[in-house]
Amino acid sequence: MAEEQRLPKKKPSSPDWALETGPLQALLSDPEVSEVMVNGPHSIFVERAGVIERSDLSFASQEELNKIASGIARLAGKEVSRKFPYADVRLPDGSRANIIVAPVAVEGPVITIRKAQSQMLDLRNLVKADFFDEKVLYFLNVCIAGRLNMIVSGGTSTGKTTLLNAIIGLIPNSERLVIIEDTLELVIRQDNVARLEARDESTYDEGFDTKRLVRNALRMRPDRIIVGETRGGEAWDILQAMNSGHEGSMTAIHANSATSALHKLEAFVLIEESGISSLLVRQHMADILNVIVQVERDAHGHRHISEIAEVIGLKEGKILTQSLFRRQEGQGIKSCGVTPKFLERQKKASSLVFPPNFFDPTKAIVLEGFTKK
Ligand SMILES: Nc1ncnc2c1ncn2[C@@H]1O[C@H](COP(=O)(O)OP(=O)(O)OP(=O)(O)O)[C@@H](O)[C@H]1O
Ligand SMILES: [Mg+2]
Repeated sequence: MAEEQRLPKKKPSSPDWALETGPLQALLSDPEVSEVMVNGPHSIFVERAGVIERSDLSFASQEELNKIASGIARLAGKEVSRKFPYADVRLPDGSRANIIVAPVAVEGPVITIRKAQSQMLDLRNLVKADFFDEKVLYFLNVCIAGRLNMIVSGGTSTGKTTLLNAIIGLIPNSERLVIIEDTLELVIRQDNVARLEARDESTYDEGFDTKRLVRNALRMRPDRIIVGETRGGEAWDILQAMNSGHEGSMTAIHANSATSALHKLEAFVLIEESGISSLLVRQHMADILNVIVQVERDAHGHRHISEIAEVIGLKEGKILTQSLFRRQEGQGIKSCGVTPKFLERQKKASSLVFPPNFFDPTKAIVLEGFTKK
């Protein structure tokens, strides 16, 4: 694997651009702050170590905040105005910002910044952070080697992108990846990578949405297509991509459970594609999708995998799933005692297999000699 990290570039905080963020500069340079939320000139909240708290800082006036909101948009060559009142922006240090101004932001501009971490957590670090355990790490390795189609599902700020990013790190460097995102966030280490970023329509530019980019990706000879997050109209195209020689593709989806992720995906397709029946969509989903990894952020601000579910088929028009792993209060994540149905398919793609008794929660498994690749 290439040592150097690819886009988004992580330049050290440059005083030039950070100065333009006024009082936010102190928060952007504070390594303990992971998220900054501005709800108007006198209301700034931050997330520190998973806990959201109010900051003492504020802007001098609405005008100052307006100026700063426009300035942040301009850092990425974008504009916020009455006609186009919101923008997604990638800051020079790789952080992701959303800006929304009047007339839709009624109490002054709202700025939400997801700070780029100096280093995206890899799977080993996520195990150390108790996001999941060694066994799940092994399971994810097998899923990648076996070219399973996977969805990472979770609520807002639960760690979907972080986990997706870490899982992508398992893909062999020999594969060609096409990565499609709304705002570049993923840190990709493989060499043969094409990165595409969707673009909203603005005064100067035509919009290019994820759907168009996924369709184009099919002509780019990808081994896998990775869509940072599925938010709507592109869902059917992503399912088609997963089914047409790009097995092992992945995306994240905003949903509170594995079942809800499936409902949402189906709804996205039905809203966008006229003339497709819900039964056909479910049939495709049941055929194509293999694994859904559900993540959550608990009341203490800790993030972890709460469930890994397998899509196992369609019965009487309903998609069937089975839980392979579940997190139990105080006990961490445990296998549920069932063996995945994807074993045959996965074995065809890779020689990496599960050791005997892997899915038996009563047996301790020694994953000896196990390495990441
Ligand atoms: N295991 C973890 N331990 C500590 N912090 C984490 C962990 N996983 C993620 N984070 C941090 O939590 C924040 C949210 O993570 P991430 O961006 O991956 O969430 P998300 O679910 O993709 O959010 P969104 O819904 O906004 O897309 C980031 O600051 C990230 O660095
Ligand atoms: Mg995300």
